[in-house]
Amino acid sequence: MSNKHAIIEKNSILMVVLILIVVSIGGLVQIVPLFFLKSTIEKVEGMRPYTPLELSGRNIYIREGCYLCHSQMIRALRDEVERYGHYSLAAESMYDHPFQWGSKRTGPDLARLGNKYSDEWHVQHLINPRDVVPASVMPGYSFLAKTKLDYSNIGNHLKTNATVGVPYSEAMIKNAKKDLESQANPDGDDSDTDALEERYGPDSSFKTKVVYRDFDGNAKMISEMDALISYLQMLGTLVDFTKFNEKATIR
Ligand code: HEC
Repeated sequence: MSNKHAIIEKNSILMVVLILIVVSIGGLVQIVPLFFLKSTIEKVEGMRPYTPLELSGRNIYIREGCYLCHSQMIRALRDEVERYGHYSLAAESMYDHPFQWGSKRTGPDLARLGNKYSDEWHVQHLINPRDVVPASVMPGYSFLAKTKLDYSNIGNHLKTNATVGVPYSEAMIKNAKKDLESQANPDGDDSDTDALEERYGPDSSFKTKVVYRDFDGNAKMISEMDALISYLQMLGTLVDFTKFNEKATIR
């Protein structure tokens, strides 16, 4: 036995080949079952794709690098669950391309931020964080309130997400601009919030929530602030954890 092992140790190519074989067996054992398990991502009631306005807000979140200081992943550890709420479920980021779990928390986790503060708080905080949190080291993003949201290509953005598996229907893609306007400016002349709810809300196949209002308090313009706040206010609000059966998902 010891002699045979000496052959491997003296022949580096043979050793590399054998290492590769051993490592790939280990990899296959770990990875292959995930493709056949039904429960890799448990379906959870309430999840739906982002509305066009929320998706635009999410793009601004990525553009501005908010993920460099904020995570969106609550771990199943007691201190995290007590501070932020129910730990994150795989299904909650199943429509995220790219996901925003993050790896650094200079600021707090944002996975369950929705409904924690008012829209006015967010506007103030994003314009100058120190107005509401005196010791904050977060930078200000006042330009968002003054910048008109460019949503000329939002339909294509939905389409791209659909190609990677997000269930955006033809109607959602076709009406993306209209839905965006209805959500950010529900009192506008052409607004059709019933259609928005039919596609994304309680009347849709997702049977979930969609909120529409003038998020930044400036009805004259759909700003980048509107989009970003609509995204922040929906984070972690889709799954109703009072009805969620934990035992059914953890095995
Ligand atoms: C340099 C790091 C940094 C960056 C970049 C940053 N933040 Fe923050 N953020 C913080 C810190 C620190 C806090 C905690 C103090 C405070 O509330 O201002 C915070 C707090 C927050 C809060 C309040 C969370 C809570 O639960 O109280 C929100 C919302 C927020 N940030 C959103 C954003 C958004 C949106 C962006 C991108 C446009 C962003 N942040 C970029 C550091 C950062």
